[in-house]
Amino acid sequence: KKRIAVLASGRGSNFQAVIDAIAAAEIPAVCVGLVTDNPGAYAIKRAEAAGMPVTVIDYARFSSKAAYEEALLDAMRSCRADLFVLAGYMRILGPGIVHEFSGRMMNIHPALLPSFAGLHAQRQAVESGVKVSGCTVHLVDEGMDTGPIVVQRCVPVLPDDDESTLADRILVEEHEALPFAVKLFCEDRLEVTGRRVRIR
Ligand code: GAR
Repeated sequence: KKRIAVLASGRGSNFQAVIDAIAAAEIPAVCVGLVTDNPGAYAIKRAEAAGMPVTVIDYARFSSKAAYEEALLDAMRSCRADLFVLAGYMRILGPGIVHEFSGRMMNIHPALLPSFAGLHAQRQAVESGVKVSGCTVHLVDEGMDTGPIVVQRCVPVLPDDDESTLADRILVEEHEALPFAVKLFCEDRLEVTGRRVRIR
């Protein structure tokens, strides 16, 4: 079984989907902990309910981004995880962390990348007038939401959608896509060649 650790900043519904898929033995992994930058994250309650250790690296308590990153790197090393899953982790990771865990970090993004990277992806989609959007699970590289794509799922954008109705529709797909991508990783079924990820 692989060891996975999750980074989350907020509600943690994607974290929960991964916890549930592991509990249902759909993913051959143990989740060794949650690392969060937000002491108020609801994800903490979910980790506690699942009996998982939580490490809070409170961004607000550090004097610089570099000091924060150093503490985060320490916490991540302590996890001794095979895979780090970014499930609504809302900060950009510095090059040191990205380099150290290269090929072993996965992020879920609420748009069909490379469209609508960055914050407020669902709002960007509504405002751009696209008729389909969705979610993307990708490996993390130095860019913002630019790494090799593992899984995508799409949803329609309906005429009366706003940011919130579209986000709800995409979230349903996220909760399928993220556990599936984690499962593929844990089964050693991902083969990365340059920017392309083949599923075996
Ligand atoms: C999800 O929609 C995720 O895709 C998004 O934040 C939400 C977290 O929800 N992530 C990003 O926008 C990353 N830039 P959750 O905490 O309930 O999983």
